[in-house]
Amino acid sequence: MSISFRDRVAIVTGAGGGLGRAYALALAKRGARVVVNDLGGARDGTGHSDAAAAVVEEIRVAGGEAMADGGSVTELEQMQAMIAKAKQAWGGVHILINNAGILRDKSFAKMEMADFRAVVDVHLIGSANATHAVWELMREQNYGRILMTASSTGLYGNFGQANYGAAKLGLAGFAKTLALEGARYNVRVNTIAPTAATRMTEDIFPPELLDRFEPEQVAPAALFLVSEDAPTNLILGAGAGVVQAAYVTLTRGAMLREATPEAVAAQFAEITDRTGETTPQSGAEQAMTIMQRLQGE
Ligand code: NAI
Repeated sequence: MSISFRDRVAIVTGAGGGLGRAYALALAKRGARVVVNDLGGARDGTGHSDAAAAVVEEIRVAGGEAMADGGSVTELEQMQAMIAKAKQAWGGVHILINNAGILRDKSFAKMEMADFRAVVDVHLIGSANATHAVWELMREQNYGRILMTASSTGLYGNFGQANYGAAKLGLAGFAKTLALEGARYNVRVNTIAPTAATRMTEDIFPPELLDRFEPEQVAPAALFLVSEDAPTNLILGAGAGVVQAAYVTLTRGAMLREATPEAVAAQFAEITDRTGETTPQSGAEQAMTIMQRLQGE
C-alpha cells in the first residue's frame, strides 16, 4: 500500500516550524501542492517573521510545489483569502491541517483572562476560521480531509495549561460534529494529539529524548489521517513513532432507584463500572443507550 498525495492541494496552518513544517515537507514529498501558512510569531503568539517562506524554499529545493501564506488563523478574512488564493492557483483545496498554536502557560490562579482568550482564539477559533473558509469548497468538491490538532492536555489535563486544555478538547469536540456533517460530502475529519520536541515543548523534554521525539515521527499519523482512505471521527495520539487511539467512552451506567442525589451516591460504583463500556459515534447514539435502557425495564 502506498499513500500518495499527487493532485491534492493541502494547507497546513502554523507550518513555519515544528510539527507543521514536518507535515508540509512530508505532504510535498508525496506529491501534494502545499500552502505553508504561518505568521511567524514567537511561542506566545507575538511578533512576525517569514518562517513560512523558508519552508516553501525547502520544499522547492526538494523538488516540491508550495506557496507561502502569512495570514493569521485568528482573522477569518485572511483565511478566506488564503483558500481563494490556493483555489485560484491550483484549482481546489483537498486537505486542511489545523496546526497553528501558541502557549501562555500559567496556573489558573495566576492566569489573566486575556491569556485564556488569546490561546482559545488561536487554537480553537483559528481552526474554526480556516475550516469555515474551506468547508463549502470541500462540500462542493465532494472531497475533503481535515485534521484538528488536540493535545494530551486537552484530553487528559496538564498543570498550568487550563487555557490550552480548554481549546484543545474543544477542537476534538469540533471535529466530532464536523465528521458527522461532512460524511455525506466525503469530508472526513479527525484529530491528532502529537508529542514532539519543538520550541513549544523545549523546556519540558529531557535533552536525551530530543532525538526520539522529532516532529518527523508524528508526520506519518497526520498524513494517514488526511489521506484518501482516512477514517473519520478518530483521535490518534502520535509521538516518537508510537501511535495510539484515544476514545470518549461511556459506561453502561445505572438506572437510579429513586431520583435523589443519595441514590447517585449509593449507586456510584455501578455508574462508574467500566465493564461493557461503549464508544458512541454521535450524541444521538448516547441518547439511544438511554432509550434502550428504558425499554429494557
Ligand atoms: P510551534 O510553536 O513550532 O508551531 C506552532 C506554529 O504556529 C508556529 O510556527 C507559529 O508561528 C504558528 N502560529 C501561531 N499563531 C499563529 C496564527 N495566529 N496564525 C498562523 N500561524 C500561527 O509548535 P509545535 O509543537 O510544532 O505545535 C504545532 C501544534 O501541535 C500546535 O497546535 C500545538 O499546540 C500542538 N501540540 C504540540 C505538542 C508537542 O509535543 N510539540 C503536543 C500537543 C500539541
